Amino acid sequence: MSDARVLARSAELFAGHRMALHVRTDRLFAWVMLAQWAFGVGVALSLSPFAWAGRIRTTHAHVYAAFLLGGVLSSLPIVLAWRRPGATATRHIIAVAQMLWSALLIHLSGGRIETHFHVFGSLAALSLYRDYKVLGTATFAVATDHYVRGIAWPESVYGVVTPEWWRFLEHAFWVIFAVAFLVSSCRRSIEELSRICLRQAETERLSSLETEKSRALDHALTELAASQEGLQRLAALGELTASVSHELRNPLAGITNATGFLRKKLVDAASREPRIQQFLDIIDRESAACTHIVGELLDFVRERPPALLPCPLRPLVAEAMSMVPRRGAVELSNDVRDDLPVPLLDKEQFRQVLINLIQNASEAMAPGRDGRVTVRAEAGEGRPLCLVVSDNGTGMTPEVAARVFQPLFTTKPRGTGLGLSVVQTIVKRHGGRIHVDTALDRGTEFRVEVPASSGR
Ligand SMILES: Nc1ncnc2c1ncn2[C@@H]1O[C@H](COP(=O)(O)OP(=O)(O)OP(=O)(O)O)[C@@H](O)[C@H]1O
Ligand SMILES: [Mg+2]
Repeated sequence: MSDARVLARSAELFAGHRMALHVRTDRLFAWVMLAQWAFGVGVALSLSPFAWAGRIRTTHAHVYAAFLLGGVLSSLPIVLAWRRPGATATRHIIAVAQMLWSALLIHLSGGRIETHFHVFGSLAALSLYRDYKVLGTATFAVATDHYVRGIAWPESVYGVVTPEWWRFLEHAFWVIFAVAFLVSSCRRSIEELSRICLRQAETERLSSLETEKSRALDHALTELAASQEGLQRLAALGELTASVSHELRNPLAGITNATGFLRKKLVDAASREPRIQQFLDIIDRESAACTHIVGELLDFVRERPPALLPCPLRPLVAEAMSMVPRRGAVELSNDVRDDLPVPLLDKEQFRQVLINLIQNASEAMAPGRDGRVTVRAEAGEGRPLCLVVSDNGTGMTPEVAARVFQPLFTTKPRGTGLGLSVVQTIVKRHGGRIHVDTALDRGTEFRVEVPASSGR
């Protein structure tokens, strides 16, 4: 799973570890430089503290060399390790200084062969950088020193004035021998470090994925708990609505009957006092509105699986049209053919669908305009039944059209906004779907599709 993010993180970890390693080693060499300086001065003082010129005793040149040259060699690496730890130049300068320290100590010891071991010790110490290029710089520095001094001042390197011509090569061979192993060990440990970083990056990624997943799960669980609570409250509200609506139906029917009775009994009084007739009309109208609301609420909250029976369409549309209150000059046209296959429908529920759609269509007519509401149907062998209710009314804006099926959405002053929600619920219960097509000022078309199922 080495994706780009893991590789980038692994490279970042690798760079961080390598920088820390370089800084640590730079600091170590700063101490080594200081110790070498003290050691070099100590060696010079103990081996050749004084020189004699006639009767005059002077401090031997080695002491000055150890103090001054050693100071120059050590101070630059110490300053760099302190001010620019981890920089590439710092470790290469340290490598050169360290090899020159070997040269100085070899010189101070008069080219003793044992002091040459300092070269090998230094190379081993420089390999702590795990940077084979540093070993290259060190090898170059020591080889150049041996070559130049071997020609110019052989005694200071080999301890003899006329060394064999191949002494330089012999020394170089042993240095290369040691460096070859150190380079290979550097490369291996760098590879190992890069593997470890990749593993660490993968582990981090896995654990961050796990954390993300568990956070998402927690979030989903919280949302689920909240929606469950909401659902329980909605269910309770639905039950309450159903029982209140049910309880209101009988009193409303009582009011309608009583108004009818009073209307008959108050014919004379109403002729004398026109407000009696007015008030009776208000009671009739408002109780009809209440009955409509109660009916829609009941349709909306009641869970009624459709009782499918063969149901001829044309008579059903005619029945629904007869139940929609007439509005001015709106013409209702039943264009459903008689010879269509008879579908299986819940008659009562589907009549409700048609009433709501036809009523909405006839309410959509602009006042004073001739309106026409048409219901037609298309069906055929194996094709779904498609029922189309269209009008040439006001149409809808795209914003209104997008919300028409939302419960309680209405643009009418006395609308409840439940009609189309009920329609959609019933159509879905029949396994069908409903679609609206509308254009402002041109009209609206509702298409209801239910699966083909013929009772014939
Ligand atoms: N044929 C149509 N032409 C234009 N607008 C329509 C049409 N049918 C529905 N609408 C819009 O959709 C809205 C929602 O209709 P819906 O039948 O759900 O509620 P309503 O008619 O406002 O109230 P009620 O619940 O009493 O039917 C309406 O208010 C109206 O704005
Ligand atoms: Mg409506």
